Order: sequence, then C-alpha cells, then structure tokens
Amino acid sequence: MKFIAPLAFVAAMAASVLGQSVQFGAPENGATVSARTNITVEIDVPTPATPFQDVSVAIGLTMCEQFTCGDPKDFMQFLLFAGPLSPERDPQNPIKPAHQNYTVTLPDQTGPAQLGVVHFTLGRAATGFFSDLNSNSINLTLVE
Ligand SMILES: *[C@@H]1O[C@H](CO)[C@@H](O)[C@H](O)[C@H]1NC(C)=O
Ligand SMILES: *[C@@H]1O[C@H](CO)[C@@H](O)[C@H](O)[C@H]1NC(C)=O
Ligand SMILES: *[C@@H]1O[C@H](CO)[C@@H](O)[C@H](O)[C@H]1NC(C)=O
Repeated sequence: MKFIAPLAFVAAMAASVLGQSVQFGAPENGATVSARTNITVEIDVPTPATPFQDVSVAIGLTMCEQFTCGDPKDFMQFLLFAGPLSPERDPQNPIKPAHQNYTVTLPDQTGPAQLGVVHFTLGRAATGFFSDLNSNSINLTLVE
C-alpha cells in the first residue's frame, strides 16, 4: 500500500523549515571589501524546530549596478562557492549558532554588490524527507 502524505501536512512541515533561513555571520551587512581579495564568509545555520539534514550551499555575488539584486535563489552573477555544508557549533561559544566558514575570492569588480547564499536542506518528517531551499543576502561595497 502506498502512503500519500497529506498535502496540508507536507506544506506545514515545509513552512516550518522555510522559516529557518541561513544567515551571514561574516562579513557584516554593509561592509566595504576589496576587489580580488579572499574573504571569510561565515554561514550561520539556526537550529530549526523540526529535524533536518543539511545538504549544501551556494554562495554568490551580484553587482547591483549591472543586475537586479533580488533573491539569490533566482539569480547570482558570480558563483563564489558551491558545495557541502556541515555546520558545527563552537563549544567555547554556546550561544553562537552552528556555522561554517568558507574562504571565497571576490571578483575584479567595484561598486554596490549583494552577497547571497542559497541553502539546500532536507526536512525530516515521520514518514520521510522533503526538500527545502532557502536563501539570504547582505549588501557589500566592493572597492579597489
Ligand atoms: C586566495 O585563495 C586562492 C584559492 O584558495 C589562493 O590560490 C590565493 O593564493 C589566495 N589569495 C590570497 C591573496 O591570499
Ligand atoms: C569562523 O570565523 C569566525 C570569524 O569570522 C570565527 O569567530 C569562528 O571561530 C570561525 N569558526 C570556525 C569553525 O573556524
Ligand atoms: C540591501 O540593499 C537593498 C537596497 O538598498 C535593501 O532593499 C535591502 O534591504 C538591503 N539588505 C540588507 C540585508 O540590509
């Protein structure tokens, strides 16, 4: 017999995970950074109310004078990193959320920019898994 998860239930589960977007621990929103340099990007993963399994992140940058800086899920001009995410807590700093640091290289561009992250995660329900894609962004200014 096939079990069909009631749609309302799946939607409720998805919504509860959707509330949990990853966040940038670093750099700070509004920071000024130098083109072509390596920066540390800290991705913070708040502990969701429901069990979940992290899969991966994509970190990208969009120059806002060249493109519309909207939801990074829809568009990112430069892909700075794409790969696995396995955030860890800092035992020395228990109030800090689980996080992972990535070193990324900024492109040879100047001006207002948006640093975006797209996070792919799996929520775990009693009956199995469902996918969730969430995103977040901060504003940066790239200078020479
Ligand atoms: C930036 O990172 C890249 C790739 O990890 C490395 O090859 C390069 O030497 C780094 N550049 C600087 C200025 O640290
Ligand atoms: C990640 O970088 C932040 C500073 O940007 C630092 O406080 C933290 O300890 C680093 N975490 C790890 C796991 O290296
Ligand atoms: C980034 O800048 C845009 C346009 O000024 C603004 O709408 C958005 O709220 C800013 N994002 C953050 C995280 O402050």
